[in-house]
Amino acid sequence: MSGSAEFSSSLPFESELAAALAAYVQPEELGFGRVMAPAMFSAHYSGGEWKAGNFEPFRPLEISPAAKALHYAQQAFEGHKAYRVDKQPVSLFRPRENWKRLARSARHLCLPQVPESLYMDAVFGVSALNANCIPRDSGESLYLRPFIIATEGEFGMGASSEVAFMVIASPSAAYHPGSMKVLIERQETRVASGAIGSVKVGGNYASALHSAARCADAGFDLSLWLDPVHQRFVDELSGMNFFAVVDGELLTPSLGGSILPGITRDTIMRLAMDRGYRVRETQLPIDELLRWISSGRCSECFACGTAAIVAPISVLGEANGQQYELNPDRSEVAAVLRKDLLDIQEGRVPDRHGWVERLPDRWAGIGH
Ligand code: COI
Repeated sequence: MSGSAEFSSSLPFESELAAALAAYVQPEELGFGRVMAPAMFSAHYSGGEWKAGNFEPFRPLEISPAAKALHYAQQAFEGHKAYRVDKQPVSLFRPRENWKRLARSARHLCLPQVPESLYMDAVFGVSALNANCIPRDSGESLYLRPFIIATEGEFGMGASSEVAFMVIASPSAAYHPGSMKVLIERQETRVASGAIGSVKVGGNYASALHSAARCADAGFDLSLWLDPVHQRFVDELSGMNFFAVVDGELLTPSLGGSILPGITRDTIMRLAMDRGYRVRETQLPIDELLRWISSGRCSECFACGTAAIVAPISVLGEANGQQYELNPDRSEVAAVLRKDLLDIQEGRVPDRHGWVERLPDRWAGIGH
């Protein structure tokens, strides 16, 4: 089916779903991505077309152990959030940007495109059905995890003819709340040069784990990746993009094939421009950045991402023990932009950019 086909997914497991929703108890402590919401969505592709999907209780999958997603990492995913802070109606933030990025990731891994109407119905439906588990405190939300996996069970290398698209959700607090210590990763690279680093696929995250373990052993929170060709320029932080304030100007690494184009990154740049900050996408040489921190020209560094929101960086460290400290209490730009972002996402100020999408009528009143 083409990208413009209309999908209207059904609730064939209505009584099981109602039972799962009724049995769900929200824990006091949420953390990030640990608690799974009771309703999920799945749709299947075979014979060259998508079939309409189903909303069903969250449950284990049954797929062939030979599925190509499991062996050749033919999969891609997204992350975005449903908000319901205070008495605001349920809303999503820039969800069509996530749909577009999933389409780019899918194209890169020879997976079929998920039609926009199927995607939007799935993310709105999962948000509406799980509305009672959307946290109400500022900074918390229902984290949505749409993903697409190759389910064809055979070992031949080649695009899978069978694929599943699913959306699961997790009521969550921010990922890495508070300030972060980052270790400059000078030994390994996150991705090869080329386009793979600019799409959201599981392999990019798996390849970050070894460095993350070394990083944790050395007392740091995250690895700061450098460009894979020269290992000279700042890239990103696995799951977060990087910003530095230098001489009052907001700098962020320019996108190439090895940086994920974060939707929060784009949003932060626009909010900063709205505030009158000078904003520049540029190649950011790590050694120069460290000199700017030492001389005080760089007043703050911070990370941003859907899950992390905006998180100040307190230390950039080297594996040899050398540390470059920043004062997170003086992360004024990060604090202002975090507030501006949350104010729009959580409905406290007018959405002048048209980024917020409310539940369509089909879903209004369901799950409330
Ligand atoms: C997100 O911010 O949505 C991500 O996918 C990052 C992940 C490491 C939690």
